[in-house]
Amino acid sequence: MRIICVDDYDQMSKKAANIVASQMILKPNSVLGFATGSTPLGMYKQLIKTYEDGHIDFEEVTTFNLDEYCGLSKKNDKSYYYYMYENFFRYVNIDMKKVNIPNGMAKDINKESLAYERKIRSCGGIDLQVLGIGRNGHIGFNEPDIKFEALTHMVKLDEQTIQDNSRFFDSIKDVPTKAISMGIKTIMHAKKIMLLASGKEKAEAIYGAIYRKITPELPASVLQLHPDVVFVVDKEAASKL
Ligand code: GLP
Repeated sequence: MRIICVDDYDQMSKKAANIVASQMILKPNSVLGFATGSTPLGMYKQLIKTYEDGHIDFEEVTTFNLDEYCGLSKKNDKSYYYYMYENFFRYVNIDMKKVNIPNGMAKDINKESLAYERKIRSCGGIDLQVLGIGRNGHIGFNEPDIKFEALTHMVKLDEQTIQDNSRFFDSIKDVPTKAISMGIKTIMHAKKIMLLASGKEKAEAIYGAIYRKITPELPASVLQLHPDVVFVVDKEAASKL
């Protein structure tokens, strides 16, 4: 496990974008795993800039997102599909046919989950998976007490996650209570993992992920077992290390 500690959110975003860019330069047809939430927004902005400067090319890239809310369509401005398109994909030369985000509107979530896993495998697996972290240590939408052996599946969101994510919705009642998420096993299969965190409200989760015992109570602690993982954290998120 490598830990890169930088001054602030801006530095975290630049470092993260550089790591993604170097992966793309080494392997132009990389399979990239992307995350949502407020943390990676700066990284996406930086990647757009690096693309506009002509240093990277998304033509051959395939992407898989970690998760999607159940019941929100692509057109819903609170969906993760909408987030990815509006904040990132529309600004780069990615082939939208190579963009994969779980379908939260699928009638049969189990079938959708199995198909998502098969698609990841048929693309040769994820080369670099980007992660954020919830205050309760969740990764993707894998909430505390999730089974480590879970693949993509439907999850019930924790009260704290609903509370934390309510800032993106008009009211807490509008936050979906379920989501479809890559499982811990799906994430652990990625060849490389990069976890980003900024701000003191993430400090406890970061401390736990790195130093506490490996337990499903703190899903991110499983990353201690991954052979190639880097944490890019700012000073505040690293303040308990
Ligand atoms: C959501 C996402 C996670 C993300 C987390 C933290 O629950 N499913 O992938 O890491 O929020 O979000 P933020 O970066 O906004 O703190």
